[in-house]
Amino acid sequence: MIYADNGATTRLNPAAAQAMLACWEEYGNPSSLHEMGRRAAQKLWQARETMAGCLGCQPNEIVFTSGGTEGDTWALRAGAALGKAQGKTHILSTVFEHPAVLNALKQLEGEGFTVELLPVGSLGTVTAAQVEEALRPDTCLVSIMYANNEIGSILPIGEIGTLCRTHGVLFHSDGVQAVGQLPISVKDENLDLLTLSAHKFGGPKGVGAVYVREGVSLPPLLPGGGQEQGRRGGTENVPGVVGMAVALEESVKNLEERTRRVTALRDGLISGLSQIPDSVLNGDPIHRLPGNVNFSFAGVEGESLLALLDGEGICASGGSACSAGSIHPSHVLTAIGRSPELARGTLRLTLGGDNTPEEGEEILRAVTETVELLRRMGK
Ligand SMILES: Cc1ncc(COP(=O)(O)O)c(C=O)c1O
Repeated sequence: MIYADNGATTRLNPAAAQAMLACWEEYGNPSSLHEMGRRAAQKLWQARETMAGCLGCQPNEIVFTSGGTEGDTWALRAGAALGKAQGKTHILSTVFEHPAVLNALKQLEGEGFTVELLPVGSLGTVTAAQVEEALRPDTCLVSIMYANNEIGSILPIGEIGTLCRTHGVLFHSDGVQAVGQLPISVKDENLDLLTLSAHKFGGPKGVGAVYVREGVSLPPLLPGGGQEQGRRGGTENVPGVVGMAVALEESVKNLEERTRRVTALRDGLISGLSQIPDSVLNGDPIHRLPGNVNFSFAGVEGESLLALLDGEGICASGGSACSAGSIHPSHVLTAIGRSPELARGTLRLTLGGDNTPEEGEEILRAVTETVELLRRMGK
């Protein structure tokens, strides 16, 4: 089996799995005042310190959540509420955000906020100048993803962060595809809020975090029992959080070496797949996630391509996993100007540190032959 779907989820890092196992024995509730509770609270604190070290912030600026969707929803809803309290109701984002962001924004729109989605051009990016031009006196929140989950474009988050700080506007980024894959320093990039999700960087599913800059006082999405300093109620997922922290530490530790290897694999595949007639690379060829390869093949049914590759033991995806099964062409591909017909013939390969050069060659052979076969069959 060749796994090339790391944008959907990643293999659990063995060190993270080991650290989680130890938590099954130490099952205390971190809010309990006895010895078992104190030990669990200690594990939670260590994880918070580790995560803060990896992101360049203070431990109390990390709030644990159940993953990317919750983190994005909280950041947006709470950020919007802060704005509304000051009479500001304009929110700026982009057309190609993940549904976790777009659907939260849709809800806010239904509640009276004005949501403006910036276009992303043919490469799938926005500039700081575009953001600056769209800012209004009543803009309360800017939310722009760090890197796109489908086409891998990396956005100029540092520049946009500096701009928002200068204008005094709250800045959130959905960093789910970027954290653990790119060097990130929340302070240098002037981020106020950053969402991350453990299962995208070798951690377990169903756990994540939001970096909340000190001084930004977000109302909770889940008030509950006041955990996480009143910012996120609910008994903490201690094993999940511990696994997430170890996975992030491991990802950051190997980042340079892994990036070099994965980028070389990606570029080899991009140049090989470009040889297929009537194929087009989607996304920014330069500012691109190390493992992302996204191509559209004219005259090919993406679902048939995926099924045949699956039959050869290659795990890949079309649009994002979240929209798999959808009959509509991906909103991301539409946003960069692909026709619905071309968008339907799209393949996303997301490589990771486990992939070998031999696997890269095998993927190239299989995709080239399968595209040819499907075209001959008229599918
Ligand atoms: C960019 C982006 N944001 C948010 C999410 C949602 O994260 P989670 O699966 O942890 O809810 C994903 C998941 O694919 C994503 O790629």
